Amino acid sequence: MTRARASGKVILLGEHAVVYGVPALAVGLDRGVEVDVEPAPTSSIVIGERRAETGDGSDMARALDALLGELGAGPVAARARLELPAGSGLGVSAALGVATARAVLGLGSGATSADARARVLAAAAAWESVFHGAPSGVDAAVAESGGCIQFSKSDGIEPVSLGRPLPLVIAVAGPPASTKLMVNEVLRFRARRPTVVEKAFAGIASLVRNARLCLEVGDLPGLGKLMDLNQMLLAGLMVSTEGIERACDVARRAGALGAKLTGAGGGGAVVALADLDPEPLLAAFRRADIECFAATVSAEAAP
Ligand code: MEV
Repeated sequence: MTRARASGKVILLGEHAVVYGVPALAVGLDRGVEVDVEPAPTSSIVIGERRAETGDGSDMARALDALLGELGAGPVAARARLELPAGSGLGVSAALGVATARAVLGLGSGATSADARARVLAAAAAWESVFHGAPSGVDAAVAESGGCIQFSKSDGIEPVSLGRPLPLVIAVAGPPASTKLMVNEVLRFRARRPTVVEKAFAGIASLVRNARLCLEVGDLPGLGKLMDLNQMLLAGLMVSTEGIERACDVARRAGALGAKLTGAGGGGAVVALADLDPEPLLAAFRRADIECFAATVSAEAAP
């Protein structure tokens, strides 16, 4: 039996626009997924109560077959434990792909050689494409790298150094949402209103550029303002919900420097940036009956 882990993630800025070539900023979380694999006559994967096996027609089974095919590996029985809610924009699907590929390759929780990392990313992309059609690759990139990264389709992963730790609070604002569906919604909106959507993407690109500078110099108030502005542009792209807006409001009233949806929207999680102490935000979310947890990203958390 081989075991491996991969990080969940939050996108700090740039989701959706990243699908169209704009860079995004993302951080890996300590929470993620752990996967055990062992050779078996036919491939299967168990996640909690759910089991999928080759030939049952499920996306999960097709994704596992695609991943093993990409690695040129034989059939395995995989068992996964999730430390984050699935379908909430926290990168569980990509983390499952990365952790399963690492386990199949016997890499534990971190690959060292560039070649092994590239194989893991290619396998995770094969896995992700079953669920998401044409993902940008940001989720798999940060699940693999951890730390804080800038990712774009053209330039791939660039490590971002943090001037100060990021005291984040993550709140699960809405019901699970499908990334594929939300990416399709933006695609359709863009076909109807190309100018509006292109302007939003251009705005997001400039917010991302400034946010990278804020991250590097540790300007958290500046970063928070840019996150709020990104949330406005995401709402303009019609991917926010009442639940997301309410959670952002709860966070800001409790002193958050900024708050926005993270991931595909349509439900799922909100990321809020605390000033120093995440406790007032956690208490406010709990009072509002919103599931939440703190996730400080340390300045040393190197990709
Ligand atoms: C999902 O976590 C992020 C999106 O930008 C989709 C993608 O990048 O593939 C919405």
